[in-house]
Amino acid sequence: MAFRTSTARKLASSLICNSRPLTAKRNIALLSKVSSQPLRSSTQVTAIRGVKQIKFNGVDSETVYERSDWPKEKLQDYFKNDTLAMIGYGSQGYGQGLNMRDNGLNVIVGVRKDGASWKAALEDGWVPGKNLFDVKEAIQKGTYIMNLLSDAAQSETWPEIKPLLTKGKTLYFAHGFSPVFKDLTKVEPPKDIDVILVAPKGSGRTVRSLFKEGRGINASYAVWNDVSGKAHEKAQALAVGVGAGYIYQTTFEKEVNSDLYGERGCLMGGIHGMFLAQYEVLRENGHSPSEAFNETVEEATQSLYPLVGKYGMDYMYDACSTTARRGALDWYPVFKKALKPVFEDLYASVKNGSETQRSLDFNSQPDYREKLESELVTIRNMEIWKVGKEVRKLRPENN
Ligand SMILES: NC(=O)c1ccc[n+]([C@@H]2O[C@H](COP(=O)([O-])OP(=O)(O)OC[C@H]3O[C@@H](n4cnc5c(N)ncnc54)[C@H](OP(=O)(O)O)[C@@H]3O)[C@@H](O)[C@H]2O)c1
Repeated sequence: MAFRTSTARKLASSLICNSRPLTAKRNIALLSKVSSQPLRSSTQVTAIRGVKQIKFNGVDSETVYERSDWPKEKLQDYFKNDTLAMIGYGSQGYGQGLNMRDNGLNVIVGVRKDGASWKAALEDGWVPGKNLFDVKEAIQKGTYIMNLLSDAAQSETWPEIKPLLTKGKTLYFAHGFSPVFKDLTKVEPPKDIDVILVAPKGSGRTVRSLFKEGRGINASYAVWNDVSGKAHEKAQALAVGVGAGYIYQTTFEKEVNSDLYGERGCLMGGIHGMFLAQYEVLRENGHSPSEAFNETVEEATQSLYPLVGKYGMDYMYDACSTTARRGALDWYPVFKKALKPVFEDLYASVKNGSETQRSLDFNSQPDYREKLESELVTIRNMEIWKVGKEVRKLRPENN
């Protein structure tokens, strides 16, 4: 796909390189930086300390909190009498745990002894008896119990965990899955303790890498029980503690429904299906694997999606060639019409608990890791992803 003019091409490449944006209105980040200024007729952002109120198209005001509202010293002071017990050390445990440790908070890890996570925690410098314990001991020591077990394991271990959640402790989740689908998971949080959620919008590896770069992942937060009257504040502070850059408020229900829907749709399942469909048709029409990959994945991820991420799809229509623009304008409604019913089915399947049931059934099997691995091997062996490895080697930075 070609950018419209050489100026647009130069601008596009400079934008990818993090320089100044084409126009301020394209930089969505600015929405949260400008105080009390009506940006577009339908958007209003009001700043109160680090807290921003965003009202968009008449939708109820969304409150956004920023890391600047919780500097490190304030965080350390806020949690000075607390022990943050992180239960589980998988993807999120790793990212959130190390970030909290680097933020100078009193964090301990609780995992089953001698499992894969125990070994990983040792490698990351957690010390048995000091800040690494088995699950039960960590929960007993903790004032905040951060349940970062896999969602299936949260359900499986709940009968042992629940009696340890005594009055005064705060229960934390990174996903609304367990309490929202409590009829299926059997995870029913005690009514006499604060229950909060912080859901980073990305993998634990990204939670960690963005923190190390001095940036911060975006995250949502929600409150299930507010017994102390301080549950909102606790969640906002802890979100910054685990490495969030900014946090927006949601509910447990909205978090789980949007998250399960998104990962099955545009974030992973849907985009993978679309890549495969486009690639296969190119191959069936005589295009080489490399050309099919370049036109499907490489150009998307290396050239276009970063621009969409930075300035939006509307920017793409301004910046691309007239030919590309005409084609995209004609075809996006066709794709939307074909796909919308699929998304409607998907949302219904999330909302009625089918996706949760499927996840619990599959991920509770003793041999789920082996079964998962065999499905992943099938994906790794697909031509598209094998040729991708070769194409990526051609990038100058990989030579
Ligand atoms: N991954 C993401 O991108 C992401 C993003 C946002 C939120 N979340 C949420 O964060 C939470 C944690 O997710 P995750 O991806 O970090 O999980 P994960 O990588 O699958 O971690 C699983 C952890 O659960 C432990 N575990 C599994 N079965 C167990 C059992 N029967 N008894 C005791 N421990 C058991 C594992 O320990 P062993 O090593 O001993 O098996 C490991 O420490 C979930 O609620 C998830 O939905 C995840």
